Amino acid sequence: MNSDAVKSNPTTPDPGTLKPGTLKPETPRNSHGPAATGITSTPEWRALSDDATSLRNTSLRKLFSDDPHRTGTLTLDVGDLHIDVSKNIVTASTIRKLCDVAQAAGVLERRDAMFRGDRINTTEDRSVLHTALRLPRSETLIVDGVDITEEVHAVLDRMADFADKVRSGQFRGATGERITTVVNIGIGGSDLGPAMVSQALRHYSDAGIDSHFVSNIDPADLVSTLANLDPARTLFIIASKTFGTLETLSNAEVARQWVIDTLATDPETQKSVVAHHFVAVSTNIERVTDFGIDEANIFGFWDWVGGRYSVGSAIGLSVMLQIGPVHFREFLHGMHQVDHHFRTAPLEANAPIVLGMLGVLYTHFFGAETRAVLPYSNDLARFPAYLQQLTMESNGKSVTLDGSAVQTGTGEIYWGEPGTNGQHAFFQLLHQGTRLVPCDFIGFAKPTADLHNDAGASMHDLLMSNFFAQTHVLAFGKNAEEIRAEDTPESLVPHKVMPGNRPSTTILAPALTPQVLGQLIALYEHQVFVQGTVWSINPFDQWGVELGKTQAQALLPLLTSGAPGASTVDGSTSDLLARYRKWRGR
Ligand code: F6P
Repeated sequence: MNSDAVKSNPTTPDPGTLKPGTLKPETPRNSHGPAATGITSTPEWRALSDDATSLRNTSLRKLFSDDPHRTGTLTLDVGDLHIDVSKNIVTASTIRKLCDVAQAAGVLERRDAMFRGDRINTTEDRSVLHTALRLPRSETLIVDGVDITEEVHAVLDRMADFADKVRSGQFRGATGERITTVVNIGIGGSDLGPAMVSQALRHYSDAGIDSHFVSNIDPADLVSTLANLDPARTLFIIASKTFGTLETLSNAEVARQWVIDTLATDPETQKSVVAHHFVAVSTNIERVTDFGIDEANIFGFWDWVGGRYSVGSAIGLSVMLQIGPVHFREFLHGMHQVDHHFRTAPLEANAPIVLGMLGVLYTHFFGAETRAVLPYSNDLARFPAYLQQLTMESNGKSVTLDGSAVQTGTGEIYWGEPGTNGQHAFFQLLHQGTRLVPCDFIGFAKPTADLHNDAGASMHDLLMSNFFAQTHVLAFGKNAEEIRAEDTPESLVPHKVMPGNRPSTTILAPALTPQVLGQLIALYEHQVFVQGTVWSINPFDQWGVELGKTQAQALLPLLTSGAPGASTVDGSTSDLLARYRKWRGR
C-alpha cells in the first residue's frame, strides 16, 4: 500500500486531525452586522469564544482519550431522561462557560419572570404561562389577582368529565351511536402537538377511539379523511386559539355540512346534530358560538398560552379522548417535572440550559445552521415536525426585544426523521458531508412493539443497536490507517474515511410513556426559551406569518377572475396567476 499517495491527497481527512474548523470558517458565519453588542460584547462571551477556538483544534477522539471520566461528568438526568452530552465537542469547562453566558444574558431572571406570569411577551403584551398548564392542583399561582391554577384545573376537570362520557358511551352521536372516531380540525399549534402525541401514545388508546387530524386547506386532507368515516360515530373537535384561522374554519364548515347532510333529517334537527358531533377548543368564545357550536361544548384556554406551547391545554382534548384523563395527567406531570428542574437545577446540571446553550455554541462558533432530531421510535415520527414549529416559529427572528437588528445568528433549523429510515436517506451527509450538523438522538430501552426475526433477534434490539452505533461512528469515525488495515484498495481509502468528530447528544429513556413524552416536550420548550433569551429576541410572537395570510386573501380574486388588484402584483406572480387561470379554464 502506498501510504504517501494518500498523505499527499488533501481530500483524505483523518479523525485525529480533522477539526470542526476545517468544516466551517474560523469566524462565526452567522455574525450579522459589524459591531458586537449585547451578549457578544460580554467577558463571558469572550471566554466562550476563546474556548471555542481551542475546541475547533481538537477532536472527540482526543477529548475522550484525554479525560477517561468524561462520560461521567458530561451527562444530565431530568425526570426519566438520561442525557449524554459527552459526544459534543466540549469539555466540562466549556459547559461552565456556556452557563456563564446564559447567566450573563439574564436567563435565570427571565425564566423566573416567565414562571411568575410577568408579561414577557412584550410585542403582544402577554404573560407566557404554558408552564401553568401543568401545575399540580395543590400549587397556587396568582397573576393579576386571578388564581391561574384553579382556572386551569377547572378546564381540565371539564375535559376529563367529557372524555369519560365519550369513552364510556354516555355521550353519543345524534343517532344514538357510540363515538368511535375523533377528528381534530386545527393547524399549527392546534394540530402538530395533539397529532404528534396521539401517534406517540397510540399504544395507550384504550377506549376504541380512533383519532384523525385534518389541518391543510388543501381539500385533499379533509376529503381523504372523511372518505372512510361514519358521521354517526364521529366527533369533530374544532381547535383554534383565535377561531379566525382560514384553514381551520374552511375545513370546519365543510365537516359541519357533511354531518348535517347525512344526519339532520330537517332544519330543526341541525342544531342538535351539531351539538352531538362538534366541540370546540378556543380562547374566542364569541366566534365559536357564531359558528354554531354551543357554549356548553367549548373548552377554553387563555391568551397566555402560545399556540405552539398549547398541547397541555384543552388543545390536547383529542389526546385525552384517546388515552383517557389519567394518562393525560401523567403527560402533564412529565412536563411539570422538567419545568421544576428548569426552575431549580443548578446551571451546569440544568438540562434545558445546557442543551440550549450547546445549540448556541454550534450556531456561533462552528457555523452550524441546523440541528437534526432523530427519534429511534417510529411512534415519534411527527416529533421533528412538531419541534419545527416550536423552535422555528419561536426563534426565527431577526429583531431584538428593543426593535434593533440582531447582531448574532438566531433560530436553529430543525429537521429529522425517525431512525433507522434516516440512515438510508440523509445520514451519508451527516457522516461524510462538509456541513456540521449537531444531532439529537432519542431512544428508549423498552419497545412499544417488538417482534423477533428468524434468528430470534429482537427487532427493537436491532433498532437500538443502530441508535448506539450511529452516535459512536459520528463521534469517532474511522481513519485511513484503520481502513487500510482492512486491505482496502488504496484508491478507495479516501472515499471510505469516516471523518468523525461530528457532535451528537443522546437522550435515552426507559420507555415512551405519557410522562416521558411530556418531559421531552418541556425539555425542548425550555431550550427555545434559553436561546431566545441569549439572542435577546421574543420567542413568543410570530409576526412573520401574518403578511403571507393577508396576501393570500388579497390574491384570491385574481385566481378566480383575474380582475381587481392585478396592478399591485409583481410581474412574476401576475404571469403565474395568468397561467394558473388558463389551466383552471378561467
Ligand atoms: O399562523 C401561525 C399560527 O398563528 C400559529 O402560531 C398557530 O399555532 C396557528 O397559526 C393556528 O392558530 P389558531 O390556533 O388560532 O387557529
